[in-house]
Amino acid sequence: MELDIQIIKTATPKEKPTDESTLGFGKYFTDHMFIVEYTEGIGWHDARIQPYGPLAIDPASPVLHYSQEIFEGLKAYRREDGGIQMFRPIENARRMNRSADRMCMPQLDEEFQVKAMKLLVETEEAWVPHRAGTSLYLRPTMIAHGAELGVHPAKNYLYYIICCPSGSYYKNGMAPVKIHIEDSYVRAVKGGTGAAKTGGNYSASLKASAEAAKKGFDQVLWLDGKQNKYVEEVGAMNMMFVIDGKLVTAPTGGSILPGITRKSVLFLAQQMGIEVEERPIAVDELMEAYKAGKLTEAFGTGTAAVISPVGLLEYRGQEMKLSNGEIGPIASSVYKTLTDIQWGRCEDRYGWIEKLS
Ligand code: PLP
Ligand code: COI
Repeated sequence: MELDIQIIKTATPKEKPTDESTLGFGKYFTDHMFIVEYTEGIGWHDARIQPYGPLAIDPASPVLHYSQEIFEGLKAYRREDGGIQMFRPIENARRMNRSADRMCMPQLDEEFQVKAMKLLVETEEAWVPHRAGTSLYLRPTMIAHGAELGVHPAKNYLYYIICCPSGSYYKNGMAPVKIHIEDSYVRAVKGGTGAAKTGGNYSASLKASAEAAKKGFDQVLWLDGKQNKYVEEVGAMNMMFVIDGKLVTAPTGGSILPGITRKSVLFLAQQMGIEVEERPIAVDELMEAYKAGKLTEAFGTGTAAVISPVGLLEYRGQEMKLSNGEIGPIASSVYKTLTDIQWGRCEDRYGWIEKLS
């Protein structure tokens, strides 16, 4: 796509957080953002990197009323030699376009999305943290704007990217999480928007998460919306189980987000000689496998969280305690292999890395 990106630098750079051990997730925002506008009949125009700041949108904007919104999440990593690289950004750009299609939003050229991400990270180079385990999280977002209350696809859109220097997503880092398997609320159904990364999926999940948090759980594991029987995914992660030595995960059948970490972990596990299965997993199967001593590990996969080991799964008051509250061997080895690739500690044998400098 032939669209020049103008760069307008801030005159008032912010103070950067000095203690990289307390970055957390999504708390600090950098000096600049990328933005490009879409107008029906014209297409995408006015691409620019500009100082980070509030957007002026009409109170009648469709995003505010009907949630016509999609987003992505990916990271830029600081290598030990000081250079910077991103992990599979083209996959995020492709998923953005699939989400756009589901939400009746315009497509944005995938190579152009990656070009914008790279240029923004180059502009914010000094914001990419150095401490082990930290990264610069990028949040590409598309919203519908304009001033019309009719329920139909909007005529105007904004695509923008903001960045946050981030540490671990969960406040306790890699400590195993406690997960409640939810059998009353549902997140998504087949034919719905579960496979799109759209804001409404996340607001719909808040109530169950809040109720689970009150009972001491960190996360909710959703069951399928039709039979309340098969495990799907967690709020911001896909789920993997080790059953009888095999790595098993739910299929991407339309109601769960096809995670890029999920796809990468399945591939890496196979490379390590681990047998992998993508198939429906009934919660009853998990319980039986647990009782028979065959459910040995569970972990979540996602960009923000990377690999998140599960120490406890609870379903209707029954508890499954896993890996003695530690990180299981399979979670541990895929974590090492994946993060070595992401942070450039080993060779990129699969063409997953996009280097910046
Ligand atoms: N599932 C949901 C609902 C998510 O929000 C995420 C995070 O993006 C994932 C799964 C994991 O996807 P990925 O590995 O592409 O980050
Ligand atoms: C990510 O892993 O990138 C996510 O988007 C998770 C999130 C919803 C915080």
